[in-house]
Amino acid sequence: MKVVIFGANGQVGRALLASKPPDWQILAPAKNEADFLQPQSIADYLLLNSPQLVINCAAYTAVDKAETDPEQCVRINASACEQLARAAAAADAVLIHLSTDYVFDGLLDRPYREEDSPAPLSVYGQSKWLGEQSIAANCAKHLIVRTSWFFDADSNNFVNTMLRLAASKSELRVVADQVGGPTPASELARVIWHLARQSVERNGPWGVYHFSGQPFISWYEFATSILTEAYRLGAIDRMPKVTPISASEFGSPAQRPANSRLDCYKIKALYGVSAADWQCELGKILEAKARAVNSATNPGS
Ligand SMILES: NC(=O)c1ccc[n+]([C@@H]2O[C@H](COP(=O)([O-])OP(=O)(O)OC[C@H]3O[C@@H](n4cnc5c(N)ncnc54)[C@H](OP(=O)(O)O)[C@@H]3O)[C@@H](O)[C@H]2O)c1
Repeated sequence: MKVVIFGANGQVGRALLASKPPDWQILAPAKNEADFLQPQSIADYLLLNSPQLVINCAAYTAVDKAETDPEQCVRINASACEQLARAAAAADAVLIHLSTDYVFDGLLDRPYREEDSPAPLSVYGQSKWLGEQSIAANCAKHLIVRTSWFFDADSNNFVNTMLRLAASKSELRVVADQVGGPTPASELARVIWHLARQSVERNGPWGVYHFSGQPFISWYEFATSILTEAYRLGAIDRMPKVTPISASEFGSPAQRPANSRLDCYKIKALYGVSAADWQCELGKILEAKARAVNSATNPGS
């Protein structure tokens, strides 16, 4: 199996490379080889390499910056997807594309299902929704995976932001009226490889799937879990006060859905994939960070 991963340098892309099937050939072009701002370079790359599977993790992901930089965001997340999908279809490849809970407005009072109507609140969410539609319209053999709130050990994400702020602030004010499922990048990568293998073997079923971590929580509860556990394990040396605030008090430039919960029933029913346990993965990451702190402060131990 020959696989092309776009965006392999990002949070999920790196997790995919770290868990790649040993018997598959993986190509991971850098931005200067396949640039989503120059979509012809994407088509040329796929034509040259003829993969059987394409995984698209490339995206403009700066959600707040997109509000004042909509053109760049839409070019990468939406416009380029049409050529990407056409080129994948021309190669008869399966195309796995990542999307987001931010395609929804968050007003439903239950977790979102795949068939619920998107109504994005932000430029980023709108660009991802347009990208989804281009993928679905131009490549029949597609899997669009909507997912949410990634974290890993190293990237610039919520977990690392909380740990960094805890080192310098005695109080953290964290949004308590947005609820969703934190998703470990490593678990998402495992699921993408599983979907890839199964869908190629069975020729589908194609379409949109939701996958996230569980249990669902607010950003405030997530921050409290991260910091309490980090302090208990010794990854941070003091516990800051964590104060719940509203999204409007926080005042981000981009509006985010209050309800980001994704119903993951369909992926379980059709691909046998269970929602990820984020608490378990968070514990492993914090234990490793605590060990690193311990060996830096007690080098001989
Ligand atoms: N992060 C989340 O919490 C989250 C939640 C739901 C869905 N998603 C979706 O999941 C996917 C992966 O997210 P992520 O967090 O792994 O993203 P990320 O860490 O920001 O990585 C994005 C990747 O896209 C590449 N890229 C950016 N502009 C490009 C361009 N013009 N041409 C080619 N490549 C370009 C980046 O390359 P460089 O590193 O070289 O710039 C990087 O490898 C995205 O589709 C995102 O919308 C993310």
